[in-house]
Amino acid sequence: MKKEVPLSRAHRLFAGRPTCLLTVRYKGQVNVMTIAWVCPISLEPPLVAMAIHPATYTHDMLKRSEECVLNIPGRPLAEQVLKCGQASGEDVDKIELTGLTLESGHRVEVPWIDECLAHVECAVVDIVAPGDHSLFIAQIVGAWAEEEAFEETWLAPEDTEELLPLLHLGGKLFALLGKKIDLSGKA
Ligand SMILES: Cc1cc2nc3c(=O)[nH]c(=O)nc-3n(C[C@H](O)[C@H](O)[C@H](O)COP(=O)(O)O)c2cc1C
Repeated sequence: MKKEVPLSRAHRLFAGRPTCLLTVRYKGQVNVMTIAWVCPISLEPPLVAMAIHPATYTHDMLKRSEECVLNIPGRPLAEQVLKCGQASGEDVDKIELTGLTLESGHRVEVPWIDECLAHVECAVVDIVAPGDHSLFIAQIVGAWAEEEAFEETWLAPEDTEELLPLLHLGGKLFALLGKKIDLSGKA
């Protein structure tokens, strides 16, 4: 039997992508916010869409600076992920709060969070606002990943939690990539 899902929770049916720590920098100030609503939308050019609420400090910083880094944390950063998603850079320096380490970006003027498993550098190409979040469309200008964690795909070693990205299920609930299924031998 299937139960109706309230419209306010329907988006959670699409859960299962890595939660990211989005770094931005504007006028020398660096901020980091947690973002789960990130989705690839084009291969050529490589584009991602990020849904960012206008009330966030990040929103205006990114609108002005037009560059960011999507850092992908693993299991050990779960608590920092929550902190960066609850406090605002308008009130507190979240880098100091979390003790995360910044490292220079390679193709953007925005730093990486060194402790993360992967870093995707982006340049904003468009912003649309079809609902209550702004959709920032950004071109991926460079991406780097820990070789033990990612090679063509997430390797998802089942016994090494620190190499697994954190998937956001909703609220304070997260999951780790589970069992891999390889269909490459099938027709
Ligand atoms: C797990 C998690 C996922 C989140 N995903 C998003 C998201 O996709 N878009 C968004 O606008 N806010 C999201 N948030 C909320 C922001 O991270 C939060 O509003 C944050 O305090 C904004 O920080 P800032 O004001 O420093 O930019 C998320 C929070 C958590 C904890």
